[in-house]
Amino acid sequence: VRAVKVELGERSYEVLVGPGARRLLSSLVPPSATKAAVVTQEAVGVEVGTGVAQETFFIKEGEAAKSMATVEQLCRNFARFGLSRADVVIGVGGGVVTDVAGFAAAVYHRGVALVHVATTLLAQVDAAIGGKTGVNLPEGKNLVGAFWQPVGVICDTEVLAALPRREYRSGLGEMAKYAFLGVANLPELALEEAVAACVECKARLVAGDEREVAGLSGAKAGGRALLNYGHTLGHALETAGNYDLRHGEAVAIGLVFAAHLAHRLGRVGKERVAEHERVVAAYGLPSRVPQGAKSEDLLALMARDKKSTGTGLTFVLDGPAGLEVVRDVPEATVLATLEGLR
Ligand SMILES: NC(=O)c1ccc[n+]([C@@H]2O[C@H](COP(=O)([O-])OP(=O)(O)OC[C@H]3O[C@@H](n4cnc5c(N)ncnc54)[C@H](O)[C@@H]3O)[C@@H](O)[C@H]2O)c1
Repeated sequence: VRAVKVELGERSYEVLVGPGARRLLSSLVPPSATKAAVVTQEAVGVEVGTGVAQETFFIKEGEAAKSMATVEQLCRNFARFGLSRADVVIGVGGGVVTDVAGFAAAVYHRGVALVHVATTLLAQVDAAIGGKTGVNLPEGKNLVGAFWQPVGVICDTEVLAALPRREYRSGLGEMAKYAFLGVANLPELALEEAVAACVECKARLVAGDEREVAGLSGAKAGGRALLNYGHTLGHALETAGNYDLRHGEAVAIGLVFAAHLAHRLGRVGKERVAEHERVVAAYGLPSRVPQGAKSEDLLALMARDKKSTGTGLTFVLDGPAGLEVVRDVPEATVLATLEGLR
């Protein structure tokens, strides 16, 4: 098991990565805690020992469970359990659990300690790290939330063996983006090394820009916004219709699209596009826009992307200086790129 540090001053914490890491959970429980509220889902099936009095609270599956109602129910259960400000919330699950448990921990008693045991590949390389928590509203995804850093995270690679194939593949899509954020030879690494390398990469970007402010002004920006690489089209595909795409699969298409778009804009050469295609194919992920998804609809959704702060179309794109936030990309170029990816 290796420890990766997320450097955030007094909010710094360690991510423990490797097979069997869940058995180290009690070492991450704060000394002040006498009770632990474990938040999980029935399907997760990962048992944890906290070393203090613990009770398990189950939430439902899927995006529908990421709601204010779930947070209220959890907080009421915490209160009945007698969870105090000195105690701890443990999120055991994928990104749905870590987002909801994290937000409940951020608001219960105005904030209690939080530890994540990430049990999907996607949560291990992304969702459980960096302190973004939140829930959906009927009006949109992740519209209510808080930055609330955990005091520790566990990425036990052993528990990934039980993940449904489709969920594993979805995690690979999120993992693929790190190949372009500076993690070398990612598809060749063993699972634990690959997870640790992605965690290190995310930790570095989060440490430099904890609250994702680097992208809010100026023409170009880096920092945490770069983690949205591949996500502009990815989100549009997820919102556009029922194309049966898991998050990471949509991101994979978004990564390849972003490479082709950068090429059309003269930012990268053909080899770099081929590298994107190669990494995505190596993970067995899709790379083409699904039949039936209209380019005009995707364009309209991308223009509404909440990460975009300017007026025109904004993308994270590769270029001579690596990934950057690029604003005011011409609509015609985006449409031509989409059409070329069918
Ligand atoms: N906060 C962030 O920074 C951040 C980043 C990326 C994604 N997210 C959020 O993460 C969510 C997606 O997360 P996800 O892809 O992990 O999906 P998920 O949490 O829905 O988990 C996928 C499925 O796998 C099951 N599962 C989890 N662990 C298992 C295990 N070890 N064995 C068997 N089954 C298991 C779950 O019960 C669920 O049915 C989205 O809501 C997204 O918004 C958040």
